Amino acid sequence: MKVTVVGAGNVGATCADVIARKELCNELVLVDIKPNFAEGKALDIWQTSPINLSDTRLIGSTGDYSKTANSDVVVITSGLPRKPGMSRDDLISTNAAIVKSVTENIIQHSPNAIIIIVSNPLDVMTYCAYLTAKIDSSRVFGMAGILDTARYRAFLAEELNCSPKDIQAVLMGGHGDTMVPLPRYTTVGGIPVTELISKEKLDGIIDRTKKGGGEIVNLLGTSAWYAPGAAAAQMVEAIVRDQKRIFPVCALLKGEYGMKDIYLGVPVILGKNGIERIIELQLNAEEKKLLNDSAVAVKEVMTVLDTMKKNS
Ligand code: NAI
Ligand code: 2OP
Repeated sequence: MKVTVVGAGNVGATCADVIARKELCNELVLVDIKPNFAEGKALDIWQTSPINLSDTRLIGSTGDYSKTANSDVVVITSGLPRKPGMSRDDLISTNAAIVKSVTENIIQHSPNAIIIIVSNPLDVMTYCAYLTAKIDSSRVFGMAGILDTARYRAFLAEELNCSPKDIQAVLMGGHGDTMVPLPRYTTVGGIPVTELISKEKLDGIIDRTKKGGGEIVNLLGTSAWYAPGAAAAQMVEAIVRDQKRIFPVCALLKGEYGMKDIYLGVPVILGKNGIERIIELQLNAEEKKLLNDSAVAVKEVMTVLDTMKKNS
């Protein structure tokens, strides 16, 4: 099994570190555009292998995609992160050009790869990679829902003073402030969360989840990496181990939830073929409205991309 991670920055290197620790593949290639950066990160992570008892072989490369040839899974994290005061959408022009060129290189050398996008603005960058790769959408999708749900679950565990392991939740929609946490589908050890926490407290946690990325940007001056890197590695794990896990994933909708031609976070089954099924929940009227509002916000960012393409 061979995995490539493009972008050896905060998220990419963390993702590679988790993949190596978990021995998810024999070969792991880290690529970056910055000279010697991926080589340095790969060497450092490789030197943890005797300590962490991992067999995963790492190599780094400055833009030489021949080293990535025949990868089974590719994670694309290359691109600018947010700075304080920026929204994810402010990154669009720079990151769209980066995601497009990286995807072209990847697909040329690994035409059968499954591609996971992490670069922001996530939903639109995933669409951009799909248009570039020209492969089935079951093999091109984005990571955001696992991260956003993890934030929601961590906040709930803190509030309830219980183990985060016991919190199950679904979160849908775009990776932005319009994301849609779903309390009706949130349980704690099998107990509906609404039986354990007041509406007021739950609303506060939902609001904090929606702004969870921004909270970290304000604390660190750049965006998060530990949870995003681990979340992307969890998707790699589900694929390479054919786990058939159910995760919220940014997927192309072709009529599901009454929408098409849009990438949006929805629950899916993830296995060796990538997205093996999109699960359609029976949303109530309020949940449907929130999901539609989120889709409108994603479409607005897609329009920015379309306008850029026309003007370029
Ligand atoms: P970073 O700045 O630490 O790393 C990005 C790396 O990409 C840099 O090392 C840079 O040299 C490299 N890069 C730029 N252009 C490249 C190209 N053409 N080819 C190869 N490498 C290239 O940024 P960080 O924190 O790792 O974030 C990466 C991206 O992930 C950002 O767009 C960020 O907004 C996004 N992100 C998305 C999340 C999600 O939930 N989907 C969560 C966290 C970050
Ligand atoms: C996050 O949610 C910025 O998308 C990134 O942390």
